[in-house]
Amino acid sequence: MKDILHELEERRKDARLGGGQRRIDSQHKKGKLTARERIELLLDEDSFEEFDMFKAHRCTEFGMDADKPAGDGVVTGWGTINGRMVYVFSQDFTVFGGSLSETHAEKICKIMDMAVQNGAPVIGLNDSGGARIQEGVASLAGYADVFQRNIMASGVVPQISVIMGPCAGGAVYSPAMTDFIFMVKDSSYMFVTGPDVVKTVTNEHVTAEELGGAITHTRKSSVADGAFENDVEAMIEVRRLVDFLPLNNREKPPVRPFFDAPDRIEESLDTLIPENPNQPYDMKELILKIGDEGDFYEIQEDYAKNIITGFIRLEGQTVGVVANQPMVLAGCLDIDSSRKAARFVRFCDAFEIPILTFVDVPGFLPGTSQEYGGVIKHGAKLLFAYGEATVPKVTVITRKAYGGAYDVMASKHLRGDFNYAWPTAQIAVMGAKGAVEILYRSELDDPEKIAKRTQDYEDRFANPFVAAEKGFIDEVIQPRSTRRRVARAFASLRNKKLTNPWKKHDNIPL
Ligand code: HXC
Repeated sequence: MKDILHELEERRKDARLGGGQRRIDSQHKKGKLTARERIELLLDEDSFEEFDMFKAHRCTEFGMDADKPAGDGVVTGWGTINGRMVYVFSQDFTVFGGSLSETHAEKICKIMDMAVQNGAPVIGLNDSGGARIQEGVASLAGYADVFQRNIMASGVVPQISVIMGPCAGGAVYSPAMTDFIFMVKDSSYMFVTGPDVVKTVTNEHVTAEELGGAITHTRKSSVADGAFENDVEAMIEVRRLVDFLPLNNREKPPVRPFFDAPDRIEESLDTLIPENPNQPYDMKELILKIGDEGDFYEIQEDYAKNIITGFIRLEGQTVGVVANQPMVLAGCLDIDSSRKAARFVRFCDAFEIPILTFVDVPGFLPGTSQEYGGVIKHGAKLLFAYGEATVPKVTVITRKAYGGAYDVMASKHLRGDFNYAWPTAQIAVMGAKGAVEILYRSELDDPEKIAKRTQDYEDRFANPFVAAEKGFIDEVIQPRSTRRRVARAFASLRNKKLTNPWKKHDNIPL
């Protein structure tokens, strides 16, 4: 008996060493942690329960039958983050470069199936050379099995991918179908075809970092939702994100203890809006002053900065925030910001997270690049996402809400539950100058007349009261009391029930 126990310990020790000390050292030299070290940081202490520690590949080609490391290059199992259950897989680069074999895929599929059945998020820590070359099509089949599960799990349990090393070729498509992708700066990259192929096909000379590093994907492509300095920061930040999310689509997000009075008055908000309507201000200041303890988890912080998306808590409950940012492109909606916000709104709706929208939008960005790029379809994504969302929706218009963008930004007409405006709001088809130039074209050579017309238009329309008279704005509120009003609104909506007509699925303009 003692011998068997000893053997188990020896086998475990061997499995924990993955590809051996030399390769572990090499991983550390690159500034990367091992698959198991990452799991230790991600999960609560001693909470990890491993599956398939001894699973080995079945490949006999290329002399592979002589080398069958226990675990086959991926560590899988479940554990907790602040006491809440999550499933994890962590690819082990020290074993065949973390490459994906048939059996490696089976291990990932097993925990994904369990995650869906038991209603808990899946977190994938990716660090892999891609398809296990020795296994050929069996490896491709393994990828497809994972892809299919990503699709089935979408909207059922949150899926989070962290790219912590290479992720290339078709392998990128599993993270691409998850809810959030985070990357580690300098040590991770994602691309469909690498720099060598790019050079051969298009004659472009580009490094792996330029082609698919964290900066590229958080600023240019928007493939990634955030970038972190190193593995440790990445694991800490994923823990922080998981705290905001429900475990699955049948549960509400967790309610955390809060130490911030819901009726806190913020006098400084009364002067947030500058006198000059063309002067920007920082919308993030409003978000930070509204949320519990100023805690804001921003998603896609470095992309399409003219719109802000992320999570706050109100009375301890998670709320998704979408806000125009007047500091960038005057807060216009364009292709990138519409796509960014639409995806965020759909995530919130899929997982029962209420949505708070702050509006200061002068309209859609004009120009050929926008029209040729299909701003009509992309703008429609955001409109569609807001319109189909059945979660509680509270909207506050702080300043401009012009034209179609007024409709799009969670207006009353898209089933907004509470639509508030600050007294500084201007809700109109367009700004006074543009309106007068169209309505009084014949008077344009008389500056005095035009100035008067502009003033008249502003007096009549550059305010929230025309919309309030029609009931499109439920209440004009004092900026200082926004936290209290918004928190009470969401509290009143906790039992909201709204269902859309039955359909197989909708046909959102992709
Ligand atoms: C088997 C692999 C491997 C792979 C790496 N290794 N990739 N083994 N299959 N795909 C092994 C290496 O042989 C090496 O073994 C160890 O992992 C570490 O690799 P190194 O090359 O020494 O590491 P590094 O210099 O850091 O380079 C990492 C790398 C490189 C950039 C990932 O290994 C690489 O280019 N690998 C091949 C990538 C690739 O072409 N994959 C297939 C892509 S197609 P030893 O024993 O020396 O430690 C694909 C399609 C998916 O993935 C389709 C889905 C539908």
